[in-house]
Amino acid sequence: MKTLKVGICGWGNVATGMFNAIESNNNYITKAGVDINIACIGARRDNPKCNPGATPIFRDIFDIPEQDIDVVVELIGGVEVARELILKSIRAGKHVITANKAVIFNHGDEIFAEANKNKVKVLFEAAVCAGTPIVKMLKEELAPNKIKKISGMLNGTSNFILSNMEEGNEFDDTLELAQKEGYAEPDPSFDIEGVDAAHKIGLLSSIAYGSSLPPKDFYIEGITKIDKKDFIYAEMLGYTIKHLAISEDNEDKIELRAHPALVSKKSYLANLKGVRNGIEVDTDLIGKIHIAGSGAGQESTASGLISDIIHLANSNEDILNVVSSINQKPIKDFGEFSFQYYFFIEAEDNPGVMASITTRLAEESIGIESMVQKDELGKNIVPIILITDIFKEDKLEGIKDKILSLDTIKNLRTIRIESTD
Ligand SMILES: NC(=O)c1ccc[n+]([C@@H]2O[C@H](COP(=O)([O-])OP(=O)(O)OC[C@H]3O[C@@H](n4cnc5c(N)ncnc54)[C@H](OP(=O)(O)O)[C@@H]3O)[C@@H](O)[C@H]2O)c1
Repeated sequence: MKTLKVGICGWGNVATGMFNAIESNNNYITKAGVDINIACIGARRDNPKCNPGATPIFRDIFDIPEQDIDVVVELIGGVEVARELILKSIRAGKHVITANKAVIFNHGDEIFAEANKNKVKVLFEAAVCAGTPIVKMLKEELAPNKIKKISGMLNGTSNFILSNMEEGNEFDDTLELAQKEGYAEPDPSFDIEGVDAAHKIGLLSSIAYGSSLPPKDFYIEGITKIDKKDFIYAEMLGYTIKHLAISEDNEDKIELRAHPALVSKKSYLANLKGVRNGIEVDTDLIGKIHIAGSGAGQESTASGLISDIIHLANSNEDILNVVSSINQKPIKDFGEFSFQYYFFIEAEDNPGVMASITTRLAEESIGIESMVQKDELGKNIVPIILITDIFKEDKLEGIKDKILSLDTIKNLRTIRIESTD
């Protein structure tokens, strides 16, 4: 059995989960051929929720890489201090395991290049969907495949909020509930603005397609503009609404985006509700693979971190890290994408209003696949719901402006439709 000496940096939630899981699940870990020895902890204060026993604590986390250990587990979060700590660990000849998506998203290429120079590994399974396995699966189990597309709900808070809105609840009430249940941070902006999901798909895209870290600009939109009424109309048309993060290999360019989308109610992703993360990977040899599980929380994250420790102990130390910016293809400009769109329009209930909308669309050569006009919203206003034919994203804002310039139109919002064939 191989013994690995581990130094933990950061002594919060996830570190507590990992420390406890190494103790409680030691039988399973040793069955995998590894004895994990937590040799030291870097913590600037004691942790009332975890007693480290005789394990020495260093008040300066930067002392940890200098100890007699094999691997530094970085659990401080944030970007710049974490980068410095990881680089110091690498230069001290220590392998690094991290749950920190932000530091790998922003500095991954620099970190991997430095790790290769120093012949150590940097592993980050827990940074994407916590313990739900996807990083090593993409790197290894799926390595013989061409990965055609990766799509999924990579943020548990957004999926929880949208699932509750689908049941008829308001966005604000559901966000409050998510905070009460501990699914959302006190400042939830990274979750609801789509940034957390964007970080995760950026990491998966770098593994699958070699897009750089950080990726050049890509389109990120959160869930704050979705209204609970959109679920009712989407359902009538055979769809529900999910926040999707997507990366796709498109011949000479890589598609990368994170935004809400209507998805067919019959699709796998449509049926994953609540705080769970779900990913669909479309491959050439196996076809579509589905993975779902808890994407946050100290226990799930501990599972991802420990799986990296086991992997490190059992893998060939000569195989190092892939620096993604080698052989990278450019990221496709978002304006070049084409979608079908859901249009929700509030219009005055006057004769001719529908004709004026269809005329505006026809002027841009945009057809309508289906249309629903519902009862009055009050004050002579009716909702009109359209599903358009496919058109290019760079036309969207101009078309919205044209429709909104009609005196009879009071409100308009659009959601892209994701093809899930
Ligand atoms: N929580 C999850 O469900 C989850 C899931 C996947 C990934 N992650 C990632 O895991 C990492 C840790 O998250 P967490 O939830 O455990 O956060 P946390 O509870 O806030 O713990 C962070 C710990 O790091 C310490 N720390 C931060 N900066 C430090 C510094 N400069 N020097 C010394 N100590 C420092 C903090 O100390 P103080 O208490 O003194 O500030 C705290 O003990 C983050 O990168 C996060 O994105 C978390």
